[in-house]
Amino acid sequence: MPALVLLGAQWGDEGKGKATDLLGGSVDYVVRYQGGNNAGHTVVVGDQKYALHLLPSGILSPSCTPVIGNGVVVDPSVLLSELSGLNERGVDTSKLLISGNAHIITPYHVSMDKVAERFLGKRKIGTTGRGIGPTYADKINRVGIRVQDLYDESILTQKVEAALDVKNQMLTKLYNRRAIAADQVVEELLGYAEQLKPYVADTVLVLNQALEDDKVVLFEGGQGTLLDIDHGTYPFVTSSNPTAGGACTGAGVGPTKISRVIGILKAYTTRVGAGPFPTELFDADGEALRRIGGERGVTTGRDRRCGWFDAVIARYATRVNGLTDFFLTKLDVLTGWEEIPVCVAYEIDGKRVEELPYSQTDFHHAKPIYETLPGWSEDITKAKSFSDLPKNAQNYVKALEEMSGAPISAIGVGPGRDETIEINSFL
Ligand code: GDP
Ligand code: IMO
Ligand code: MG
Repeated sequence: MPALVLLGAQWGDEGKGKATDLLGGSVDYVVRYQGGNNAGHTVVVGDQKYALHLLPSGILSPSCTPVIGNGVVVDPSVLLSELSGLNERGVDTSKLLISGNAHIITPYHVSMDKVAERFLGKRKIGTTGRGIGPTYADKINRVGIRVQDLYDESILTQKVEAALDVKNQMLTKLYNRRAIAADQVVEELLGYAEQLKPYVADTVLVLNQALEDDKVVLFEGGQGTLLDIDHGTYPFVTSSNPTAGGACTGAGVGPTKISRVIGILKAYTTRVGAGPFPTELFDADGEALRRIGGERGVTTGRDRRCGWFDAVIARYATRVNGLTDFFLTKLDVLTGWEEIPVCVAYEIDGKRVEELPYSQTDFHHAKPIYETLPGWSEDITKAKSFSDLPKNAQNYVKALEEMSGAPISAIGVGPGRDETIEINSFL
């Protein structure tokens, strides 16, 4: 059985955690391939609610092996506290595997993230402040620290000293902050080494062998397509590739192994942090979506910006990820609106544009062109099949499917595992 990728089709927080958890019981491995603890994935199992940041959502399925791939950036203190939090709640985390090639978020990366944002002032990106960008910058600059470096004190010391040589100049001279002592960082990092050791593995080998043995591997993206460093709304993006190609580089698995790419798509749109968002609402509807949808960040507690569904973005996500399916989430949140506007195209400088413009300037000028679909008032949270949905809800889903370019194979009608309508099986 080949591999599947599950990723966000919008600006993150589409409900990836719930969708991954739902499939977790039927797959052998769930692999995070990029991002770090900027992610916040909420999973509801029965009356228990879990907020996961760094751990793959498969951690809650006992039969599944959770893997943190080489493309992830790992804050060891966050990882260890997430593990102990789950252990206290009776979740067995002993099967976790962490790539020795994953890069480590150190305290200086977190400091650099925060001061860089402060320095940008009004032009700030609104990062999660978790050190994600500076850690990926060091990786690309070849001055990063990897998980495997924790097991060679001399190499670790050399690398931390080299990285801090430059950073301390920046912190003290540019940002007017105190220098960070290399020996303290080394000591802190070495303090995590023994606790992490049982989990560290050659995950590329493990995953490729698993695929050869016909095991099912699910790659779980963090963030979303429009937050991708290459394909998102740059510079208002994260510093990794949540899009499908990121699964290959971030886990060391060839594209020929991947047979299905599932885009998680919210029935409306949200975004956290700065950057363009054509369908954003500043009125009572936006407020209602936020309230009914519980649109508050799992990681930073920030209110999410809310707006109507944007089919231009969904089509774009289909294209850049080669999506085979959509998992439409939070349809229940739209219950009660008499009419629901859906953005079908943009108006840019007086012209109708059907596809996402590559130009940042054009996208900033994009005004949504709406079509209005009739709403429904019946409670849909108990619906188990497509035919259980009211006609207008069925039509809303069908319209979105037609506009978005890939079949909608599942529909979320509530946060729980069983509050899902399965249309086509993913496995
Ligand atoms: P992720 O980052 O993509 O995993 O998404 P988040 O967990 O940050 O945000 C999605 C929120 O919506 C979480 O609170 C989920 O429990 C919740 N959720 C997921 N699917 C559904 C759904 O179909 N209906 C409702 N009402 N809530 C959902
Ligand atoms: P999940 O996995 C929504 C946003 C931040 C900011 C930008 C850059 O829960 O969908 P970063 O800290 O990554 O450098 O911030 O990206 N962002 C997210 N928005 N969901 C996420 O993750 C996000 N992770 C980062 O708000 O705008
Ligand atoms: Mg989230």
